[in-house]
Amino acid sequence: MDAMSLSRRRRKTRFGVPVVAVALLLGACAGAPEVPVGPDGRPDPVLLEGRQIYQVRCQSCHGSNGGGGRGPNIQSDQVVTAYPDPADQEAFVAAGKGQMPAYAERLTAAEIAAVVRYTREVLR
Ligand code: HEC
Repeated sequence: MDAMSLSRRRRKTRFGVPVVAVALLLGACAGAPEVPVGPDGRPDPVLLEGRQIYQVRCQSCHGSNGGGGRGPNIQSDQVVTAYPDPADQEAFVAAGKGQMPAYAERLTAAEIAAVVRYTREVLR
């Protein structure tokens, strides 16, 4: 192999590493949908908290956008239809069912209410 093609190879390798690093970083950051800003130009802090909880506790089974996976689709249309009263959805999350863990002892009532609001108002 001549010196020219050797240096070309090296350049290609050096370029490849940052590309992979950036791709991994983007993958790690690809979380649940952002909370849109409200009329005051800011996202609702309760929904921000709900998103945080969703990413840590729920996303692994229900998918980053709520579209489903190990657990069913829990996007807004779905849960608002299944639970017209948000209190019933909160009760479900607190109690769990089958493969769905019970959250009554892992999250406070306010945290459950926040993550339920996030699924009803942001996931679509
Ligand atoms: C280990 C996987 C898993 C995790 C983690 C999980 N779920 Fe579930 N979830 C399920 C499964 C499975 C079901 C279906 C349960 C059934 O009906 O038997 C379900 C059902 C639901 C339902 C009912 C959907 C409907 O249409 O009736 C809601 C609401 C829900 N999950 C919300 C959440 C929330 C909020 C979190 C996080 C706090 C969460 N889940 C975390 C697996 C999970």
